[in-house]
Amino acid sequence: MLPWFQNGKFPLYLAPMARVTDIVFRQFCKDQGADVMVTEFVQADALTREDPKLWETVDFTEQQRPMGVQIFGSNPDSMADAARLLADRLQPDFIDINFGCPADRVICMDAGSSMLRNPAKLGKVTGAIVRAVPGTPVTAKIRTGWDDETLVAREVGHIVESEGAQALTIHGRTKAQGYSGEANWPLIAEVAEALTIPVIGNGNIRSAHDVIRVREQTSCAGVMIGRAALGYPWIFRDIKHYLEHGVVPEPPSVAVRWGTILDYTRKIMERPFREQRHNDIRWMRPKIIGLTKEMPNSRKIRGALGQVTHIEDLERVAAEHTALHADGIVKQ
Ligand SMILES: Cc1cc2nc3c(=O)[nH]c(=O)nc-3n(C[C@H](O)[C@H](O)[C@H](O)COP(=O)(O)O)c2cc1C
Repeated sequence: MLPWFQNGKFPLYLAPMARVTDIVFRQFCKDQGADVMVTEFVQADALTREDPKLWETVDFTEQQRPMGVQIFGSNPDSMADAARLLADRLQPDFIDINFGCPADRVICMDAGSSMLRNPAKLGKVTGAIVRAVPGTPVTAKIRTGWDDETLVAREVGHIVESEGAQALTIHGRTKAQGYSGEANWPLIAEVAEALTIPVIGNGNIRSAHDVIRVREQTSCAGVMIGRAALGYPWIFRDIKHYLEHGVVPEPPSVAVRWGTILDYTRKIMERPFREQRHNDIRWMRPKIIGLTKEMPNSRKIRGALGQVTHIEDLERVAAEHTALHADGIVKQ
């Protein structure tokens, strides 16, 4: 069994999120208590073509372990080649296969959630990767199915398990649902019960109460947290604190949050290969806006952030907003 599930541990995973869970964001989540993390997905073929931007995307630090790298694609051989290359070069703790992405550009390659329509091929891809990297655990991430008429999670779960995957994450929505609607936790519970490998439940986990519910009502071995961490990486700290002490800690102050955002921006700007254009931070606006989502007056901040070009602009917005909330009161 993968070590992070042993001895009754119930790991909190940070979900892979494209254009969000970069190496710096991941570090914030790690510092706040994320137990296991997965890089955002990268196209297997592009890794073997040595695209430097993608290799930057899958970079991680030793401190971030246990770390998985997630790949997508549809050809078993090129997926296996990419896995081999990743294992040789980065020695990740596991390689995760994306069988859940609903984006058109991924579906039209027959990859991501498109694979749920072809379980036999999904099995071939899984088996090819498992055989290609005998020293590296392989895991998979799926949705419950393509749509409500084709809920294949159970069948696909058995396939990936029999092909040698060592854990399965289930995002409890169909491809057709995208990111809205209820997550199908009864189905996640059913698959977790049916499989021998650990199942990680995913979909709308937003609090310690959600985690407690999953622990009590399913045989999931862990949970994965996505959007709730996006604007609030402190969620891992909050959940762990609650599980240990029965109370939710005070939320970080506005000043602390802006400190984190500025730190994040500066650190990203130091990274190589990113979309840097000298000191222009416009390309980072969506990332920064994402991090302000849970702050008071976030709509107003979004307007101001839509204008920032340089770090000095961001510092100014941060100072103004912090001053408004210096005493914890929203003054408008
Ligand atoms: C912006 C964004 C990017 C995502 N990128 C990926 C990805 O690269 N790989 C993946 O398996 N899932 C990806 N997902 C899905 C999440 O990992 C997760 O399964 C989903 O958001 C449901 O969890 P949540 O309800 O906690 O957000 C992405 C989700 C979002 C919102």
